[in-house]
Parts: sequence; structure tokens; C-alpha cells
Amino acid sequence: MCGIVAAVAAGGDVRAAVLAGLKTLEYRGYDSAGMAVLHDGAIQVRRKMGKIAALEEELARDELPPSSLAVAHTRWATHGAPADRNAHPHRDDRDEVVVVHNGIIENYVELRERLAAEGHVFSTETDTEVLANLVGARMRELGDLHAAVRAALEEVEGAYALVAMAVSEPGTLVAARMDSPLVLGVGKDGRYAASDMPALLGLTRDFVVLENHETAVLHADSHVVHGPDGAPLERGVTRCDWTPEQAERGGFPHFMLKEIHEQPDVLARTAFDRCRDTEGDVDFEDDFGLDDEALRSLKRLRFMAMGTSLHAAMLGQRLLAELARLPGETLNASEFLYSPPLDEGDALTVVVSQSGETADSLRALREVKERGGRVLGICNVRGSSLAREADHLVLTHCGPEVGVASTKAFFGQVVALYLLAIRIGRARGVLDVARGQQLLHDLRALRHQLEGLFKEEALAPVRAAADYLAGVRSCLFLGRALGHPVALEGALKLKEVSYIHAEGYPAGEMKHGPIALIDADFPVVAICTPGRVRAKMVSNLQEVRARGGKVIAVAAEGDTEVAAAADFLLPVPEVPELLAPLVDSVPLQLLAYETALRLGRDIDQPRNLAKSVTVE
Ligand code: F6R
Repeated sequence: MCGIVAAVAAGGDVRAAVLAGLKTLEYRGYDSAGMAVLHDGAIQVRRKMGKIAALEEELARDELPPSSLAVAHTRWATHGAPADRNAHPHRDDRDEVVVVHNGIIENYVELRERLAAEGHVFSTETDTEVLANLVGARMRELGDLHAAVRAALEEVEGAYALVAMAVSEPGTLVAARMDSPLVLGVGKDGRYAASDMPALLGLTRDFVVLENHETAVLHADSHVVHGPDGAPLERGVTRCDWTPEQAERGGFPHFMLKEIHEQPDVLARTAFDRCRDTEGDVDFEDDFGLDDEALRSLKRLRFMAMGTSLHAAMLGQRLLAELARLPGETLNASEFLYSPPLDEGDALTVVVSQSGETADSLRALREVKERGGRVLGICNVRGSSLAREADHLVLTHCGPEVGVASTKAFFGQVVALYLLAIRIGRARGVLDVARGQQLLHDLRALRHQLEGLFKEEALAPVRAAADYLAGVRSCLFLGRALGHPVALEGALKLKEVSYIHAEGYPAGEMKHGPIALIDADFPVVAICTPGRVRAKMVSNLQEVRARGGKVIAVAAEGDTEVAAAADFLLPVPEVPELLAPLVDSVPLQLLAYETALRLGRDIDQPRNLAKSVTVE
């Protein structure tokens, strides 16, 4: 939700670097964008509704002057409709201070009324303009930007990541963070701030993470992080192992397609170094922090996440029950807050999040900890809030995910959860060495099997199904057991990128209501790969066909029975049942992609969405 980039350099011009960083943050919001620089003692701002390309056009038409100090923003509207005037950066009414902000100032109406009564004039409907005026007012009282930001934030309720600059301090940026992500970049020639690390990879790979309630003062050759009481803190630099190339499209027409194709590598990076093949066990890094004894003492698991990560979490619950015989439940993280605060006992909560910054998941994590529970984070971003705040951590190694619709991150999460299930199953004595060896062997073999999904024999049927699906308005995705979360995820992918209405259901539920929807224009996408539930799925297909419904089935190559019952068959290699979600989800991702392509949708940045939902 909104992306921020800011830079202060020793001489030179930071405009191009800031704009390049902003482009990598476009996935966080793309309603409008803007940039401000300080030049000759004055703040200059350019802002434009629409994507960053519109801002670039505006900058080509009406250039900003070169500057060694700049802040920029890409917006996902919360307060105030997407419009030029509501785009960031926002100035105070005397043009002395400029602010970029990600988050929500909850008491902005009250602050606005107070400031208006003091004579401040507002030209937008945004909470950020209120913040800029508040900082401006405190600046005049205190004469120091850092002190002014700190004083202003004492009056603010809500979430923010912000960067401010002031006419009276031409070499200074002040950054602050509360519940919205912000990292500081430490470069040879300057200091930077951004909503995530990939935005700054073109400038540096050395980062300082800002925690909640902290502020930072950046100059071209120094940075100081201040704690909640304003005192300077010692804070080390973290080196990021992502490369700038990983955040580029690399010849693919869309990030989504590139990221779908990266999944075999995600498998290798997330799993293979952790496999102890001879012992049939798994080794996580030190930040996992749970030894055999701790794993043996677990009585129950709780999985929480949002969106696609929730579907991975549902699979995690089933894998853990299967391989470690641990009971568990999966909750939508946003609902957890409303559950009665029961004793956490010997439970472990697993919070799954690609970004590690999803507000609902973080709120749930904090609530668990307040209730005395422990949290294991499964996360793709080192240094993110989840990675820092969880008691235990397993990182997925997916590389930066840029496409707004999550694909490879889901894949990496399921791989990590499979490893976790083996690790806990072994520690609890549920799995013996031979079974552990077999499970790891199956996982390694998958890499090669996945490659088949990208060959023409597999892609042609997906394209044919997409030709058909692009003409329908609604459809149902059905699966049973491990196929159920896969169906939910398939439906979510399709609706996100194609805007076709799609619902995922457990196939057993079909006859309890959804079957009423089925007719010649209402197709069903069904997961029919080998395993305990395949025969029942085939019966469901017959029931759909009997009512004139069209069927798209994901099934093993050469499954003639499913082929006979389906209008379109999306073939996948036959793999062990527990790994089927990893192969079954790939043709569904490609189906969503190909359908959206036919409909001319904005695949990497679907309307209304933002990749990292940092407000509740
Ligand atoms: C869907 C999608 C979202 C995210 C959800 C959670 O394609 O990307 O549903 O999965 O917003 O995000 P993370 O995993 O970052 O917590």
C-alpha cells in the first residue's frame, strides 16, 4: 500500500535513481505518483494521477530541476480519491516542508480541524497533507526537522512510514516508522530510504531496518537511528543477498509469467540446502530456533495468513497433520483478533507471509504474543517485520516477487511447510529415517518433473482452455483434501488477474448449493490428480457434465478416464499425493495468466489491488 523512495547524496543528481526505485515499488500501489526535490532553497513537486509512466510523461513535459535531495511516492488511495491533487508528496501550506507517507493517520480529521482553526489552509483531502502541516507547524516552533517530526508524531494515531524534508535543512532527510515498512540504504555516495529493499538495489545492498517508533536522520555521508525516546541507537547494517536483476522482467512480457517460470529454481533454493538426505531429515538455519525437544513438546499448531498465503497455510496444516500427526487449525489472520483469548498452552502459531508486512498478519502475530503464545514466521523477506518479530523463522528463498498476483511465493511457502512437516515429523518420531529419505527424494525429483509443465504439450491445453474461459463470466474451482486449497488459490488467481468471477469450493460442497449455478455458461475447474480423492472428483465431473456444465480438469498425463469426462484437460506429471499441490497449481497460474492476457488485463498490476497490504 503505497511506496516511498527518498535519497540524499553528496552532490550530483538523484532524480533518476529515485524514479528507478519508485518503478520497482509500483506493485505497492498505482493510483498516482509524484516526486519532490529541493532546489535553490525551494521545494518543487510534480504529481500525476495514474501509473508512474504518467508521472514520467509529466516530468518530460515539466522537468524537475537537478537535486541531490528527493522524495517520491507511488500511491494506493486510502483518504481522497485517486487524483493529481491527492497524489504525494504533500507540502505544508507555507511550502516549507514536504512529506511522503505510507499508512493511515487515524485521527487526521481531528488534527485537520485543529490546524484549520490555527489558520492552516488545506488543498487536498488526504491525511498526509495534515501530517505535512503538523510537521511544518512544529518546525516553526522547534527549528529542527527531526525534533519537528518527532513532536508531530506524538500527536498522531495510526500507521506510517514517512520521509520528510524541509527548505531550512537542505542536506537532511528525516524518516520515521510505525507499522508500515521502511528500510534505510547505506551507499558510498549517499543515504536512502524506501518501502522495501529491491527499490534501492540499484544504489546499495547495505540496509538498516527501522523498527516501530524509531526515527532516523539521514545526511549524504551519515545516518543516525533514534529510539522511541529520541536517543541515538547503535544499529548494524544488513547485507541483502538479492540482486537488481532478480527484480527485473528478464525477457518475459510480465513479471507474473517470469515468476511462474522461476518455480523450479525456488524449489531448489528453498529446499535443497536444507535437506539432510541420508538422515531423512531437514536442517533449518539458526533463526528456526526449535530443537527436537521443543518440537516434541508441541501439542497443536495454528496457521494464520491472508490471501494466497492463507491457501499455503491451509496446505501447511494438512501436511503437518499428515507427516507430524499434529492437530492444527487455519485462520484468516484478520479474524483472529475477534476470537476469545483462550490459553495458548503448548501451541505454536505459524504465520505465513511473502512480504512479512501484511498488516492483518502482523496484528495477529502481536496478538498471539500478547496472549503468551509463540510464533513461527514463514516469510520471503529477510529483515521484514514478520522476520524480526516472530520468535522462530523459516525464510523462503523465492527472490523478490514483483507481480501483484502471488505465484512463486505460494510455491516457496508450500515447499517450506513440507520441509517443516518432515522436520517436526522426524523430531516427534512419527517419520522414520526411510520415510524421511523418501519424502526428500520425492521433493528433489520434483524439480525435473516441474519442467514438463512449461513444455508445449502442457502449455497448448492451457491456452485452449484460456481461449474458452476468457468468454465466461463466472466459474467454480473444485478440489478435495489437498486439492481444496489448490482450488481456492486457482480461483483467487483467476479473479485477480482476469476479473472473471471465480469461487473455490471443497468439491463435496458442490451438491449443497453451488450446483444450482451450473449451466452451459458456468464451467467448473476441477483438481483430479491421482490420490485418495481422485475417484470422487471424477464423480463430481460427471455430475457437472450431466447438467450441461463444461469441465476443465487438472489431471495426470495419460489419465484417459478424466480426459473422457472433461472438455479441457490440463496435464501434469504424476507425483506423490503430498506434492501434488505444487504441480497442480502451476497450470492454474498459467490458466489465469493466459485468460487475463486474452482479455487485455493489466496482469502485473490488476486494478484496485496492492501487493503488500499494510493497512488493516
Ligand atoms: C494474491 C496475493 C495476496 C497476498 C496477501 C498476503 O495473489 O498476492 O492475496 O497473498 O495479500 O500477502 P503476504 O503474503 O505478503 O502476507
